[in-house]
Amino acid sequence: MSEHRSGADTRHLTRREGAGHVVLVGTMGSGKTRVGRQLATRLGLGFVDSDEQIERRCGRTVREIFESDGEPAFRKLEAEALAEAIGSSARSVIAAAGGVVLDPRNRELLRRAAAVVWLRARPEVLATRVRDGDHRPLLGDDALGALRRLDAERAPLYEEVATAVLDVGELSPDEAVTRIVELVT
Ligand code: S3P
Repeated sequence: MSEHRSGADTRHLTRREGAGHVVLVGTMGSGKTRVGRQLATRLGLGFVDSDEQIERRCGRTVREIFESDGEPAFRKLEAEALAEAIGSSARSVIAAAGGVVLDPRNRELLRRAAAVVWLRARPEVLATRVRDGDHRPLLGDDALGALRRLDAERAPLYEEVATAVLDVGELSPDEAVTRIVELVT
């Protein structure tokens, strides 16, 4: 990857096709939901969070789905939620769950978004942000270890789908929103 001196890499921003969705991707704790919600307000767009969509539809939490049906069942719901959000004609900001990039079909779907912004931060930073709440079943008792493993596995996949990379480690949610607005408008 090229260097990110400015903290933002805008190599191939933005595609002029589809509904013009702006998708946020990144590891758990990177701020996709919080930043995404604020970004949608700032841009005057709708907001879709794929985990929230799944929970609403199933009437169960992500953790409950993982525990009762297993991860593959959750991944199927995740793929359906992404396809629905990307397929919608109403331009939106979409916070895609962290694992969405694992499935090559999802990565293909992401190519239909106008912009896919990878909110990037080191596992050490993310670990300090995921302390509150135990709603993330993959983190277990060793959040930092899990985040390191996920980062090693997924960073190349986020890199593959991203039209822009924003280093959020030292940014407040407000600052991140401002940077993304600059990237996508
Ligand atoms: C997951 C990320 C979570 C949630 C689930 C699995 C992952 O979403 O979908 O716990 O595999 O990275 P967030 O990234 O929104 O926390």
